Amino acid sequence: MIKHPQLVLPMVVYPDVIGLLTIDHRKVQAIFAEIQAKRGHIRAHEKFELVRKACAELLIHFAVEEGIFYPATRDAIDNNGVMDEALDEHESAKSIIIMLGNIPPDEPMFDAKVRALAEQIEHHIQEEESVMFPKVLVSDIDLVVLGKELLGAKNDMRARFGMPIEEIADEQFPEEDVYLSLSHARHIASRMRHI
Ligand SMILES: [Fe+2]
Ligand SMILES: [Fe+2]
Repeated sequence: MIKHPQLVLPMVVYPDVIGLLTIDHRKVQAIFAEIQAKRGHIRAHEKFELVRKACAELLIHFAVEEGIFYPATRDAIDNNGVMDEALDEHESAKSIIIMLGNIPPDEPMFDAKVRALAEQIEHHIQEEESVMFPKVLVSDIDLVVLGKELLGAKNDMRARFGMPIEEIADEQFPEEDVYLSLSHARHIASRMRHI
């Protein structure tokens, strides 16, 4: 029987590009989950604020993916189908976001569009995390360098829109011999394929 080395998963996500994008995904999923949980007993203006927050996070996320992450990924993974589908999904999500801006939040159509957006985003996140990200993890992309570039661009946009800046605390850069970053996990995984 082949004995596989045990991979100890990090308690803290190393802030490489995959970690940062995944944190964004969880943030938006949490907002949509909150909207769903409060359905039927939430005031229209509170619901509107939550939707506005989710849309702002999504638009910034799409912008840095399209401007920084997707071009690097398209070059590295050599799979135009995956990248084109992801861009199509961004476009249809953006068109729902534009529609939402024109519907009063107390109308049933507003809720229907929010549900459609949440479903579409959930599908998109699953595709990125189960198809695209694994390909990136075994590519030659320097995930940490790209992550720093992505975080800088995100914070420039957040500052312009008056949104709080995202900072990576020192403790999120753990000692490398204690924690395993996703980049290191990638190298270990690629080495294991040859064992
Ligand atoms: Fe994403
Ligand atoms: Fe995306």
